[in-house]
Amino acid sequence: MNVVLGVSGSIAAYRAADLARDLMRQGFTVRVCLTDAAQKFVTAALFETLTGQPCLTDTFEEPQVGRMAHIDWARQADLIVVAPATANTINKLAAGIGDDMLTTIVLAATCPLVVAPAMNPQMYANEVTQESLRLLATRATAIVEPQEGDVACGEHGQGKLATNEQIVATVNAVAVRKKVLAGKHVVITSGPTQEPIDEVRYLTNRSSGKMGSALARAALLLGARVTVVSGPVQVSYPLQAKVVRVRDAVQMLEATVEAAQGADIVIGAAAVADYRPADPVVGKVRRSSEPITLTLVPNPDIIAHVARKYPAAKVIGFAAEPTSELTVAREKLVRKGVFAIAANDVSQPGIGFESENNELVLVTHDQEPISSGKRSKLQCALWLLQKIVVS
Ligand SMILES: Cc1cc2nc3c(=O)[nH]c(=O)nc-3n(C[C@H](O)[C@H](O)[C@H](O)COP(=O)(O)O)c2cc1C
Repeated sequence: MNVVLGVSGSIAAYRAADLARDLMRQGFTVRVCLTDAAQKFVTAALFETLTGQPCLTDTFEEPQVGRMAHIDWARQADLIVVAPATANTINKLAAGIGDDMLTTIVLAATCPLVVAPAMNPQMYANEVTQESLRLLATRATAIVEPQEGDVACGEHGQGKLATNEQIVATVNAVAVRKKVLAGKHVVITSGPTQEPIDEVRYLTNRSSGKMGSALARAALLLGARVTVVSGPVQVSYPLQAKVVRVRDAVQMLEATVEAAQGADIVIGAAAVADYRPADPVVGKVRRSSEPITLTLVPNPDIIAHVARKYPAAKVIGFAAEPTSELTVAREKLVRKGVFAIAANDVSQPGIGFESENNELVLVTHDQEPISSGKRSKLQCALWLLQKIVVS
């Protein structure tokens, strides 16, 4: 497994030398990238000698002529760990700035990221640093909390780089997580459907596709191959996921049945319209002073259909209900014949539709319901997939 160790300009940079060795002892191939400030404390030659690998320091460096090293290293990395991570580098990572080799590699990478902050306690407590760490955590970056103690500047407080043992343990945990779904195919339905009334109007709902997108990212972080069958959404899906775009429920059924053949896990996160207009009008319904009646017919139950057709797959449905009551989720579990239902209470402020956060309750046939707690949709998605694997 390839690890890129990013070292930034902290007094604790000297500890990265031992960390590189400790990671190599765990079987990782370690390549080091130093920021300019890090080179005031440690040298590329030190890490090249220790690791037997080239060490990058400059954005325009090309150890292999004609190959962009930041892209090569990002593609080849199974995991990136930034230790020690300065306040400056943490804030840049959170903001998506790529103004040196290290931050550019992180921007170009899709693999998991581990960040071990080290700094003066005031810099650590600074609102901006704390906000950046929170933001990174919502994107599933593993933060190895600094320790409390006497720091180099003579102050006492939280800011000392975590022990190498703690950093290695986190790297190992993230590396193991990456194998949870290795070799598995996960199919996710996402977003709303649009059910045409005529050629310019349709019935739809408030689903944004954010939960589906988070599930796709989480499944990729856990090592799966991912297919998303998506209704019309603004949200973007990870580039490594295969995305099949559909518009209405009937198209979503066809695309999901095709994608789910041989799949290991199928998650129905799409908010599929329960009904569609019986006879969509060709052209446009014209205004008149008379009331009109729209006849609706039921749409296919996609997730129930997939569960019946592919009994070997773990099929999970979502139940977005305006209540924390689990009666509907339990009823759906049985009626749809699925492996589990992820229920979420869309009446609660700050979670559910269009929101950045969610709270899921996993309802299965033989275990007590369990809650993810309120967290980012990506963290909920990682929680859900890991629970499904062990259930
Ligand atoms: C002696 C010395 C020690 C420093 N130690 C730290 C530190 O532990 N953590 C930190 O966030 N910044 C520290 N800094 C400040 C950073 O080096 C500075 O913000 C730099 O711009 C960080 O650049 P980088 O994030 O690209 O490595 C230190 C500066 C000096 C001069």
